[in-house]
Amino acid sequence: EVKKEKYVIGFSQCIGSDQWRKTMLAEVKREMSFHPEATLIYEEANGNSQTQIEQVRRLLQKNIDILLISPNEARPLTPIVEEAYKKGIPVIVIDRKITSELYTAYVGADNFEIGRIAGEYIAKRLNFKGNIAEVMGLPGSSPAIERQRGFYKAVKNYPEIKISSQLYGNWLKEKSREVIEQNINHIKNTGAIFAHNDQMALGASEILKQHQINNIKIVGVDALPGTNNGLGFVSTRLLDASILYPTGGKEAIRTAFSILKNKPFNKNILLKTLAIDSTNAYLMQMQEDRMQSQQEDIERQQLMLADQQRVYKNQQTVLNILVVS
Ligand code: FRU
Repeated sequence: EVKKEKYVIGFSQCIGSDQWRKTMLAEVKREMSFHPEATLIYEEANGNSQTQIEQVRRLLQKNIDILLISPNEARPLTPIVEEAYKKGIPVIVIDRKITSELYTAYVGADNFEIGRIAGEYIAKRLNFKGNIAEVMGLPGSSPAIERQRGFYKAVKNYPEIKISSQLYGNWLKEKSREVIEQNINHIKNTGAIFAHNDQMALGASEILKQHQINNIKIVGVDALPGTNNGLGFVSTRLLDASILYPTGGKEAIRTAFSILKNKPFNKNILLKTLAIDSTNAYLMQMQEDRMQSQQEDIERQQLMLADQQRVYKNQQTVLNILVVS
């Protein structure tokens, strides 16, 4: 019999309430189910860096074997992550980064590239002319910084395109609605809005609708499947496009076990991205549906297998009793 190791995986999530993070957690749990001997301790910081620091500290006291973390803001979370790493606990950083190199692996898509793709897409849709408003993520969180830089890099190639305003939506739909409303007089004269995620893009689109403004292109990021998510919003033309941002939950757990079992792994696990608009949204949704149904098949098979194993075990017991008596 193979020796079963009992690993404890600590997972510190910056915020847990949105669909993107829920999807990440579902992926994490699904992948964990292949390792029944390992346990997951999950903490969620509700978008508060101080809370997250304390939660990581508590995880470290629980003698975790590996730390997975998506840091709310890079700078405040860096010291505690470094502390874990220096103690010899491997650290996998997911989606949002810290400011130092003291971690074992990073899992995520290239956020600079995401911003760049958004910039190129919008420039083209505006025929390389016009003003763009940018609704940015939480200042100090690395995807906001990198998406901004990539976006700027793309549009600065086009002299007649200008980023005419930059507003902080902090990744939140409500906050985005607020800043769009406050700046509506300026926004209404722009050609496009680039929001750093689909929830903020949705918020912007709702406010524009209230003001009966309907000629502004809106691009978001994430493109989660489902009618209430980015892919759905693109299909129904609430958004013009969304740049895919995979959550990396599965890759993070796979990498965690490679590290724990001393198998080779990449320090940088780069997830793929692409722009999704009305030309390919349908195809994407179809593929997602297909994957979902295959996933359900797998889970049904697992249940059946477990059931058969139970029956087999019972038969063995009956057999043993018969043999003994
Ligand atoms: C979810 C989220 C995503 C965004 C990511 C950036 O909490 O706001 O919408 O792409 O975090 O870290």
